Amino acid sequence: MPDVFISNDGPVRKIRMNRPEKKNALTLAMYESMANAIEDAGKSDGVRCLIIAGTQDVFCAGNDLNDFIVMARSGSLGEPIVRFLHTLARCEKPIVAAVSGAAVGVGTTMLLHCDQVIASDSAVLLTPFVSLGLLPEAGSSLIAPRLMGHARAFSLLIMGKPLTAEEARSAGIVNTVVPAAELDGQALNIAREIAGLPPESVIAARRLMRGSVEETIARIDEEVEAFKTRLASPEAQKALAAFLNRKR
Ligand code: COA
Repeated sequence: MPDVFISNDGPVRKIRMNRPEKKNALTLAMYESMANAIEDAGKSDGVRCLIIAGTQDVFCAGNDLNDFIVMARSGSLGEPIVRFLHTLARCEKPIVAAVSGAAVGVGTTMLLHCDQVIASDSAVLLTPFVSLGLLPEAGSSLIAPRLMGHARAFSLLIMGKPLTAEEARSAGIVNTVVPAAELDGQALNIAREIAGLPPESVIAARRLMRGSVEETIARIDEEVEAFKTRLASPEAQKALAAFLNRKR
């Protein structure tokens, strides 16, 4: 089974992160596969809605931290990461997320680009960017305060306070909390419901609701530049090494 499993169920395209032994931490190849699947969905008339899901116990542990260490040395952020973030922000088809277990870092910030977020009662959203010496990405510095208000976004993005599924629902970034066993079924039902609506009208209405894509892209790029500087900082080097050495 590949690290990202893509399947179509009628008009619904499902993108499943599938690297459970590493808690679905995203490698460059996984970003590439996800960007390809989203971009292709945009061009396929047959696809009317996407689902992004993880595995049973975890949604996504964020970027692979080993890759961050390599990138810090080269002073770059992998091109597939930036491509994935741009593709997500530019995606015109509606996206449903099915979140089970931990959603860390980009595992949480990608949810801010989704239109419906269904979470299992085990879900926890967490962005420990600042404690890793890093900073928020994926346009989250722009989108999260708009969705949750500055104070709640500060707790999440800067202070790294986790949100339970219920707390995320109260904050307006999760729609529905369901028992874990019902997660996939509920996400598929919602995606089918959206896919059953007049597709051109959905896209036009969604475009209006989401505001300026170029503003989001510009913020993603600004975050990327600042992120590269942070990655190379002694604060980040120390925090990343501490995580990777914690079991030794
Ligand atoms: N990058 C690389 N490897 C990761 C990873 C990541 N982001 N997250 C988890 N892993 C690996 C662990 O190193 C471990 O590998 P090992 O079995 O070879 O030692 C394996 O996945 C299982 O992780 P573990 O920490 O033992 O599982 P857990 O259930 O105790 O905790 C998490 C799960 C997600 C809470 C925890 O792994 C974690 O905090 N991960 C880091 C998240 C993070 O900081 N992401 C970046 C945000 S910017």
